[in-house]
Amino acid sequence: MDKNKVLIFDTTLRDGEQALQSSLSVNEKIQIAQQLTRLKVDIIEAGFAISSPGDFQSIKTIAEEVKGPVICSLARCVDKDIEAAAKAVKPAGRGRVHVFIGTSRIHREKKLRKGDDEVLAMGVAAVKYARKLCGDVEFSCEDTGRTELSYLYRFVEAVIKAGAATINLPDTVGYTVPMEFRGIISSVFANVPNIDKAIISVHCHNDLGLAVANSIMAVECGVRQVECTINGIGERAGNCSLEEVVMILKTREKLLKLNTNIAAKEIMRTSRLVSRLCNMPVQPNKAIVGSNAFAHSSGIHQDGVLKEQTTYEIMKPGSIGLSENVLNLTSRSGRHVIKHRLALLGYKEKEYDLDTVYQRFLALADKKGRVYDDDLEALIELPHAEETDTFRLTYLNVTSGSKVVPTATLRISAKGKTIQEAATGDGPVHAVCSAIDRASGMNVKMLDYRITSRTGGREALGVVDILAEYADHRIHGSGSSTDIIEASALAYINILNKIVRLQEVRKARASRKQRQRKA
Ligand code: KIV
Ligand code: ZN
Repeated sequence: MDKNKVLIFDTTLRDGEQALQSSLSVNEKIQIAQQLTRLKVDIIEAGFAISSPGDFQSIKTIAEEVKGPVICSLARCVDKDIEAAAKAVKPAGRGRVHVFIGTSRIHREKKLRKGDDEVLAMGVAAVKYARKLCGDVEFSCEDTGRTELSYLYRFVEAVIKAGAATINLPDTVGYTVPMEFRGIISSVFANVPNIDKAIISVHCHNDLGLAVANSIMAVECGVRQVECTINGIGERAGNCSLEEVVMILKTREKLLKLNTNIAAKEIMRTSRLVSRLCNMPVQPNKAIVGSNAFAHSSGIHQDGVLKEQTTYEIMKPGSIGLSENVLNLTSRSGRHVIKHRLALLGYKEKEYDLDTVYQRFLALADKKGRVYDDDLEALIELPHAEETDTFRLTYLNVTSGSKVVPTATLRISAKGKTIQEAATGDGPVHAVCSAIDRASGMNVKMLDYRITSRTGGREALGVVDILAEYADHRIHGSGSSTDIIEASALAYINILNKIVRLQEVRKARASRKQRQRKA
């Protein structure tokens, strides 16, 4: 094996999944495992086979269907755990059983309530038994970060001798700081005589926000497997984030001289899939995959990036599968970025007066905060038009329940006229959207629909966000109410109003061009 290659062991489906509010279905786990395969992770820890029949089945199905990575199951140092794990991963071309036991004093005395030698003997016996059932065995010294070093050396030596090919040294409670963790890992390398007979791995938790830093320290000491999860999801504050470790190794390859097998262009797609299926939104400022990670807001930065991308970007958005960076149009944006954005929208400089458009842009940005492409076009094409809504919801009545056909009756006012319509649907939201389609005479292709609660408790304000497609445009509409059906209606009508404005902008642009041609 390439001595500079760091293996990526993904535990999104085990350590990540165990921390979710509701568990993933087998089908969802397979979707994630297939995507992890496209991402080219080396090992997928698919679950903890003994923990439930559902987990066993998911690991087995992944082992049957997902080809490429090693498929692994976790097990305690208990025979029935090891048997379940070995059985679940057996269909995989390459299966691995991952056994673990707590090695720190606090785990030995308070959790396991066993003596030092007894815990060590359990670890050795488990590795030997696992090796009988599966050719590839990994052993984890749980809570390595708080384990006495002399005991750790003895333990690691014994489980390597018993047949473990990978030794994982977890900072289970995310307690260590980088230089301390480096001390632990480098002293294991220096004091375990048979250390070269195994691949040494780390598995860091993020309780103090140091999981990635500790993992990078460890690879610097000779560790060649990093255990991590997509978006850093996992127990408590989460695990080491896969995308961060991978992009550190890639971006700083010259300094660190290490590499991985990861197909980095698949990172964004994997992050979005995991976020959606796990219902775990990614914080906007999350490194690598946050929505702001490649977005520039400062006018000075935007100007710099337009002149030379590397002034404020250390990675290319394309390297993780994003099409481009984002220059947020706000009151901090300068003329340069407005001109650039208009050029991308197809406007030649002679078609508008930059100073006038920029003054209007600043006034709008002060009012709205963020200005979008359709706002910018409207500034040029409809400079004197008030931003008014064509459609307004004036009445809504919805019936739904387990024994009634969901039906929505509503009134909308459209340019002073009141239109009443009713429709049925598969559910109340479907009924409401169909009734609005009838009343407005429009039909929208909905791409995504999300509800989130803005405030806590039963009387929480529901916020509905809808993403729709219209004439090659993606349009976002939002509505909020304590009644989530009303919030859905408002979000849908918000989209219709944006479409009407877009149509007006298009019409104005076409007639302006015609006038210019005639002149
Ligand atoms: O955090 C931890 O120590 C673990 C082990 C089971 C590897 O998840
Ligand atoms: Zn863990």
